[in-house]
Amino acid sequence: MNTHDWNLLQNIRQKYLDGTAGKHDYWESTAELELYNNTFAQRIGWKWEYVLSQLDNVHWQLPNGTIIDYGCGSGIAGRKILEHFSTEEQRLLLHDRSNRAMEFSQQAAQTQFPNLSVECSAPIPNFSQATVVISHVITELSEEQIKSLCIQVQSAQCVLWVEPGTYVASRALLHAHQLLKSQFNVIAPCTHQESCGMNTSTNKRHWCHFFATPPEEAFTDRNWSRFTEETGIDLSDLPLSYLVLDKRPTIPYKPDSMRFIARADVQKYDAIVVGCSATGVKDYVVSKRTSPEVYKLLKKGNDVGVVTPDIRGREILSLPDDNNT
Ligand SMILES: C[S@@+](CC[C@H](N)C(=O)[O-])C[C@H]1O[C@@H](n2cnc3c(N)ncnc32)[C@H](O)[C@@H]1O
Repeated sequence: MNTHDWNLLQNIRQKYLDGTAGKHDYWESTAELELYNNTFAQRIGWKWEYVLSQLDNVHWQLPNGTIIDYGCGSGIAGRKILEHFSTEEQRLLLHDRSNRAMEFSQQAAQTQFPNLSVECSAPIPNFSQATVVISHVITELSEEQIKSLCIQVQSAQCVLWVEPGTYVASRALLHAHQLLKSQFNVIAPCTHQESCGMNTSTNKRHWCHFFATPPEEAFTDRNWSRFTEETGIDLSDLPLSYLVLDKRPTIPYKPDSMRFIARADVQKYDAIVVGCSATGVKDYVVSKRTSPEVYKLLKKGNDVGVVTPDIRGREILSLPDDNNT
C-alpha cells in the first residue's frame, strides 16, 4: 500500500470518527472498498470469528435459506459466516445504500464461494424467514432508521448483529434488543430471556461489550504494523458488541448461567467482574486468596464464555469445570 492508499483509508476512518459516515454514500471507488476490505474489514472479521465461536459453544447452527447482509460494505460479515459454517447451500443477498459496495461484495463472495448463489438488492429486501446479518452499521443510522430496521427485522428467522464495542454502539444495540426481544429467542450474549439488566439506573455506566482475540499475524505481519502506525489503532484491542436472535426453538441456558461483560478489573488482591445473568447485571468480587484459580483466569484476560459460578453474596468462589466453556 502506498501513501495515497493510506490517505484514502484515513479519509474513510475520519468519517467514522466524526460521525458523518451516515450522511451519504462514502464509497467513491472500488479501490477504496478493496483497501477497506484488506484492513478494517479484516479486523471486523476477527470480531465475527469471536462471535461465531461463542455460537459454537452453545451449539447454534446456521439455518438453510437466505442470508441477507444488510449494509454489506465489502461483504466481510456474510463471507465469514459462510466460511465458518462451510456451506454454499445458502443464498447470499447483499444490500447496501452503495451499489459499488454491493457489486464489490458480490464479486468477492462469488470468488470465494463459486457455487453460491449471490444477489444484490438495492431496495431493502424482504427479511421474511431469512438470516439477517448486520455488521458495523448502527452508528451510520439515525434513531428512526434503527427503529424501522428493527420493524423489518421482526419477520426474519435469525439475526446476527455485530457492532463496535463502544458505549454508543452498544447502547444502540441494547435498544434494538429491547425492540426485538419479544419476537425471538435470544441466543447470545444474553444467557436468559429477561429484560436487559444493563437498562437499570445503577448500570448506566456499563455497556455490553466483549473482546475478540486477534490472530498471530496482527503482530507479525509488516502490513499490520504499518496499519497500526498509520491509524493508531491498537490491534490487540478488539472490543465488540453483539446480539444473536433466533425464532427456532433453542436449548435454554441453565437458570444460573452467567456471562462476564468486558474484562475484569484486576487488582493486587482481588478482581471485580461484571456478571450478567437472569437476575441482572451486577459487580462481583473474586478474591485472590479464596479463589486463586478464578483470579488467575481473569488476570490472564481470558474470555471464559458462559459459566455457572458458585456465588456467595457478591463473591464468586469458583467456576465449576464442567460448566466452564
Ligand atoms: C462501516 S461500513 C460496514 C460494512 C460491513 N458491514 C462491515 O462490517 O465491514 C457501513 C456500511 O453501511 C452502509 N450503510 C450506511 N447507511 C446505510 C443505510 N441506510 N442503508 C444501507 N446501507 C447503509 C454503508 O454504505 C457501508 O457500506
